[in-house]
Amino acid sequence: MPKPTNSEPKPRSADSLEGLWPAARPQASVPLLKALHILTREGALNADSRRKLKQILHLTQVLRPLLEALLAESGEPVIADLGAGKSYLGFILYDLILGPAGRGRVIGVETRAGLVEKSRALALESGFERMEFVAAPIAEAALAGGRVDMVTALHACDTATDDAIGFALRHGAKTIALVPCCQAEMAQLLKGRDGPLRELWRHPIQRREFGAHVTNVLRCLVLEAHGYKVRVTELTGLEHSMKNELILAERHQRGNAQARAGLDQLVDQLGVRPRLLDLVM
Ligand SMILES: C[S@@+](CC[C@H](N)C(=O)[O-])C[C@H]1O[C@@H](n2cnc3c(N)ncnc32)[C@H](O)[C@@H]1O
Repeated sequence: MPKPTNSEPKPRSADSLEGLWPAARPQASVPLLKALHILTREGALNADSRRKLKQILHLTQVLRPLLEALLAESGEPVIADLGAGKSYLGFILYDLILGPAGRGRVIGVETRAGLVEKSRALALESGFERMEFVAAPIAEAALAGGRVDMVTALHACDTATDDAIGFALRHGAKTIALVPCCQAEMAQLLKGRDGPLRELWRHPIQRREFGAHVTNVLRCLVLEAHGYKVRVTELTGLEHSMKNELILAERHQRGNAQARAGLDQLVDQLGVRPRLLDLVM
């Protein structure tokens, strides 16, 4: 039997992940990525899937050291992925980090029961025993044991990101990673609103953009006021997605009076009170 040579073509599925998939054997993850429809049935990666995959892999790399720290300090760290959708992030975190570690659970929370059923079936098929899925709105989800170490919410729609902050605080999360999605609540509150800053939101497009921006600023201040250290970075280059602000929070003290004062002052200047404040302040 002749030995295969380097010049022989590799399977396309391995080619698609070459240089992208941060594991020694990308081929082992191909069935999972096909089941998630990230790879086509033939194993190819189309432009949309490549964009999504790059975003999730970037987030995975940012979360890796934080997850490794949680694995080092807790026997069984719990990650809650909120507004999980098809649970790309949960499956990839499990496949790349928690699976090889042999410890740690992922719990996906998602309102759409059909997606939850599919994720349960895929976890079973993949042998991912420490993955669970809850079909519920984030605001109503209560997890057995009540403790969660890390909360992730990737593009959870509109105020679902705020529900994720409420959930993280209720469950005592040490680490929170948020990539907010479109935001409509603040623009609605600011519409027709007078005040010293009104020029910032007079035009509808600017109102929408300013509304989304200031909502994220308020989210950061809320987290800081609750004792988290917050970093805000770009998830991927703008060419990958317009919704690419990553808010990463790590709990390091009980509270922060200066952040609380900054939050109160900004809310005062805006003259509106988003629902987030009633949820968690
Ligand atoms: C844009 S998708 C993002 C899905 C996934 N996180 C991702 O990045 O691929 C947002 C998901 O959040 C879910 N969702 C929105 N609001 C929710 C809520 N309040 N509670 C639970 N799930 C919610 C939607 O059903 C949808 O599947």
